Amino acid sequence: MPVHPVPADRASQAAAAHARGPAGPVRSDAEVAGRVDALIAQMSVAEKAGQLTQYFYFALQPSEDLEAAFGASFSRQPAMVEAALARGEVGALLFVTDPVEVNRLQRLAVEGSRHGIPVLFGFDVIHGLRTIFPVPIAMAASWDPGCIEQGQAVAAREACAAGIHWAFAPMVDIARDPRWGRIIEGAGEDPYLGAAVAAAQVRGLQGDGLGSPDRVIAGPKHLAGYGAALGGRDYDEVNLSDSELWNVYLPPFRAAVQAGAGNIMTAYMDLNGIPATGNRWLLAEVLRGMWGFDGFVVSDAQAVHDLRTHGFAADLADAGARAVNAGVDMEMAIGDPAYAHLPDAVRAGLVDEDVLDGCVRRVLSAKVRMGLLDQPYVDEDRAREVLADPAHRAVARTAAQRSAVLLRNEGSLLPLTASGSIAVIGPLADSRRDTLGPWVFDYDLGETVTVLDGIRNRAGDGAVVGYAPGIRPAHRAFPSMFDMFGGNTPADPADFDDDAELARAVTLARESDVALVVLGEWQNMIGEAASRSSLELPGGQLALLQAVVATGTPVVLLIMNGRPLDLRWAAENVPAILDIWYPGTEGGTAVADVIFGDVPPGGKLPFSWPRTVGQIPVIYSHTISHQPGNQGRRYWDETSTPLFPFGHGLSYSRFEYRDLTVDRNQIHPGQTAIVSVTVTNTGQRSGDEVVQLYIHQRHGSASRPVRELKGFQRVTLAAGESRTLEFPLGPGQLRYWNAATRDWVIDTSTIDVFSGGDSTAELTTSFTIAA
Ligand code: BGC
Repeated sequence: MPVHPVPADRASQAAAAHARGPAGPVRSDAEVAGRVDALIAQMSVAEKAGQLTQYFYFALQPSEDLEAAFGASFSRQPAMVEAALARGEVGALLFVTDPVEVNRLQRLAVEGSRHGIPVLFGFDVIHGLRTIFPVPIAMAASWDPGCIEQGQAVAAREACAAGIHWAFAPMVDIARDPRWGRIIEGAGEDPYLGAAVAAAQVRGLQGDGLGSPDRVIAGPKHLAGYGAALGGRDYDEVNLSDSELWNVYLPPFRAAVQAGAGNIMTAYMDLNGIPATGNRWLLAEVLRGMWGFDGFVVSDAQAVHDLRTHGFAADLADAGARAVNAGVDMEMAIGDPAYAHLPDAVRAGLVDEDVLDGCVRRVLSAKVRMGLLDQPYVDEDRAREVLADPAHRAVARTAAQRSAVLLRNEGSLLPLTASGSIAVIGPLADSRRDTLGPWVFDYDLGETVTVLDGIRNRAGDGAVVGYAPGIRPAHRAFPSMFDMFGGNTPADPADFDDDAELARAVTLARESDVALVVLGEWQNMIGEAASRSSLELPGGQLALLQAVVATGTPVVLLIMNGRPLDLRWAAENVPAILDIWYPGTEGGTAVADVIFGDVPPGGKLPFSWPRTVGQIPVIYSHTISHQPGNQGRRYWDETSTPLFPFGHGLSYSRFEYRDLTVDRNQIHPGQTAIVSVTVTNTGQRSGDEVVQLYIHQRHGSASRPVRELKGFQRVTLAAGESRTLEFPLGPGQLRYWNAATRDWVIDTSTIDVFSGGDSTAELTTSFTIAA
């Protein structure tokens, strides 16, 4: 099967060059193989199975809730893990982030076991460790691979300092159903953007490869299709057509593998009827065979056990054998591991010892390359210094500035001047925990700047800033497993008088020159195990917004979210809407930077923003069919186009596009055409624009989408400045997986090209692909 490399965009190449340190991986393949083979030769089958096991090790007090969530073995887990460490039967641990504890546990393996093989420490370093970056969907909204790479390099530096060797990131699952809470962890709906973001994250986390100083192993996840869960319900089955799988869901994984990812994590659900964690086709044929992946594969947490739950494996021993035979090198286990049965499976001939050795070889190779066999311990003093590095917060601030998306700005209400009186309204405006978003555990709330803090700091004595929450926090109907970690659910304020608080917020708004209303979802309402059946603003937030708008004071709505929410009322009644996502440690500072115009907003939506939940899924890259003129009237009760299109995002300036040209009228399959377009800042201020390039194939051996993103570059232009940008359109962009021929094809056809500031761009030209 011809698999052509997808050319990285130029901006990301430049950023990669910049971020790479002078030192690369220092261990030759021969050295790695020699050390690994020498160890394998001395290991028992039980020790080999142990190397293939990763245990959770929680510093949580056992409780009934924890046992209910993780099984009855939870309370005896620390003792069980420590005994296994001493036997040399642990390959990796997860959830330990205290360097002192890392060293204590590492000593048990290195000094207490027969071969002294160190363990890998893994963790969910999703958007920062101590310095929290905007959530991944927000980083994707920056459309800035350099910024994304830099953010993950900071996260890696902190993780490394804490003794972590491996990040369970990036999540590269395409998500087209925002009911699915984990849309927040990915890059949205588009495979091209998703691939660019995936590669940037891998480069940021891993640097030049395993063993680069201050970097960790990147573990793209969850192979594959997890984002397409039926009904948006987390963990539920996924049924994807051949075309969707190859053209939409797999490209970000392939890009992550090409960027050198050292690990891949499997997914929980059934993919077209086969559990992803027992799916030999996916793991052996596609991942290793077609893409040449040579790192190690880990299961998602307890996903090997789940092979039994799926009704796939007969029992735990069968589950372990089938996972290994499918290509899962390491089991991530919460309780008793299924891989503990592997020695029996080898004896029974269900698993060939050579297959087991192959898995062990891949895991040990990662340890050798990471330098663990030479230096298994972490420097506890350095950890304190690195984690407190203020330079990290500066990078997080820039990232939060660059990820904000200006959805609407009627009458140029934004930017504001820091004078007069400003009302800040809404409970999320002053919630440190919510400002950080989900999937963080090692944050420091004392360092976290809320929107209210940021506005107050920036306004100084120049403006009077008042605050009223207006309403109490809303709650989930059903709790999530994350609620077992402290501080995850919003605290209900004591003595909160609902009527009086609403009245106080309205009065504050009425008496102020402008009202900043911060609304969205509380962070425990989005993420893993946080799917929902509606997109409405939870709790009394819409009523609060309507009451504030009714005062007549101009309103700026700041949305704190990881998925699109139902903003139909706001989009007609609120002049300015800025999507700030969960902006992280420096979030409030960055939001103030944007609101007061110190930096321009330039982020763009990485998904089509639906009007209402009933429209899901709504994507820009649909194919065209009968009565295309009625695309916006497919429902009789609501417009069927998005509220805001994919790629949308305004600036404080204006941009005009012209001279969209292709360097030749015709190419042949395999050749590359160069498209150029000139963009001019026609406004009065400097601004950022993400120049986007889309194609549409007019005819061919399959129906192709009305638009497909095939290039983008974020640029900063001074008022009046013009820039001509070039984008290649070659095999990487023009080929697609054809479900009829079950292969990649480049059709002879006419290709329409569009360029502009979002997926509805009108400036167009075309060229042909001739035989
Ligand atoms: C998630 C993974 C995560 C793992 C370890 C699972 O529930 O699906 O994304 O890496 O837990 O925390």
